[in-house]
Amino acid sequence: CMVRHYKFNVVLKNTTRMCSTKPIVTVNGLYPGPTLVAREDDTILIKVVNHVKYNVSIHWHGIRQIRTGWADGPAYITQCPIQPGQSYVYNFTITGQRGTLWWHAHILWLRATVHGAIVILPKRDVPYPFPKPHKEEIVILGEWWKSDVEAVINEALKSGLAPNVSDAHTINGHPGPVSGCPSNGYTLPVKAGMTYMLRIINSALNEELFFKIAGHQLTVVEVDATYVKPFKTDTIVITPGQTTNVLVATNRGGGKYMVAASTFMDAPIAIDNVTATAFLHYSGSGSLTSSAATVTSTPPKNATSVATKFISALRSLNSKQYPAKVPLKIDHSLLFTVGLGVNPCPTCVNGSRVVASINNVTFVMPKISLLQAHFFNISGVFTSDFPGNPPVPFNFTSTQVTNFATKKGTRLYRLAYNDTVQLVLQDTGMITPENHPVHLHGFNFFEVGRGLGNFNPQTDPKNFNLVDPVERNTIGVPSGGWTAIRFRADNPGVWFMHCHLEVHTTWGLKMAFVVDNGKGPNESLLPPPSDFPKC
Ligand code: C2O
Repeated sequence: CMVRHYKFNVVLKNTTRMCSTKPIVTVNGLYPGPTLVAREDDTILIKVVNHVKYNVSIHWHGIRQIRTGWADGPAYITQCPIQPGQSYVYNFTITGQRGTLWWHAHILWLRATVHGAIVILPKRDVPYPFPKPHKEEIVILGEWWKSDVEAVINEALKSGLAPNVSDAHTINGHPGPVSGCPSNGYTLPVKAGMTYMLRIINSALNEELFFKIAGHQLTVVEVDATYVKPFKTDTIVITPGQTTNVLVATNRGGGKYMVAASTFMDAPIAIDNVTATAFLHYSGSGSLTSSAATVTSTPPKNATSVATKFISALRSLNSKQYPAKVPLKIDHSLLFTVGLGVNPCPTCVNGSRVVASINNVTFVMPKISLLQAHFFNISGVFTSDFPGNPPVPFNFTSTQVTNFATKKGTRLYRLAYNDTVQLVLQDTGMITPENHPVHLHGFNFFEVGRGLGNFNPQTDPKNFNLVDPVERNTIGVPSGGWTAIRFRADNPGVWFMHCHLEVHTTWGLKMAFVVDNGKGPNESLLPPPSDFPKC
């Protein structure tokens, strides 16, 4: 294993999309940002230098950060932000992970443009558990606003209303043609008769997505940097935060084929966006502009059946080399409701503001990081009394006006080292049911069950898959339904859990677990590095 050094200069860069130009926050002037490449067991040091007027922090989404929570990145959870003119070296070792992950800003809405891929290759001489692709490509799906993204969310917080939806989706930073602005969008040149592996990342702020390539099947081999039993599909579903590796055989001889990404949201309030398009272009089949494209369309945005079929096909590889270590004995059985609510706000447009909560707690960000408060025993920053169950039993999936108002708090759920957790995430319909892609920092978890309607603690666990459930770090809680996950708390520190729809996180759909040190020699959180940012 080796030590790899990267430098991330956070800088403004004038960027043109949809025929208009605006300055955006970037890393090294790139949108999407640079790719980190490493091998399992490598140590990575990334020096982040903040040259913009905003506070910045960067999260390495899906990297477990075993004992190095100081490098995890969410602002005010594991670190104070890097202030303008300051720098911080993120220093971590990749342990027991290989595959596609990604990095993104973890403060305000900066991750709209501050994000990039992380490619972790297997250890030297360890092959993939599937035929080696001839070539690998990164495909980052995203969203683009014509106006300034920070202004969009600040305006919404002031008014108490929902923020404007993005103007376009993007594939590797490009929307493709949109009305009034012709453009080819992103083009991936391919050769016939090869196998490509696409490392697909959904970096969108607020949209779960369908992804499809005209005339080509996708063989799914990995999600969230864990291998799955390979299966073929026309369409994948990917939530913000998730990654999916697919193999594509270029078996069409020649031509130009549309690649498309569009919204999946089966909530009644579903919003739509322009479909992002790109092209696979076979070499030797004429110039890009002259050759006619084979077009495709993605499923309609409310195509629950397509999503359900895809999600239920996902299984851990669970081979001898990559066993699924599903916790079987459970120390904490938790039920968290996730959903939206409305709280009074005299200065807001309707006298109220939209909020979001977990078990009716709308999370309030602290002034110094929770990890510092935990490590240095600073009192008054958080409490360890996050409710393990909803405050009142109610019918989660129907609208319940009486339960609209939420309680505020910076409450954490405390776990002893190595405790096992079963957590049912139940969507609520207090305003309306909605999709919630929930991400847990510091761990991978197994999705042992999912269903529509209310979770039934008597009958549903009987159908749990404890053999080869998919292992991942971000899970889509179905609109009007639930998902059950299991993990082992074998990583001491403070670990954020939140909806990866940025608007829901902003509204308070977040909480954190605090995991105490174990007694063994390698079971405690390391001390913070000397350049650790101050608040
Ligand atoms: Cu990808 Cu807490 O985030």
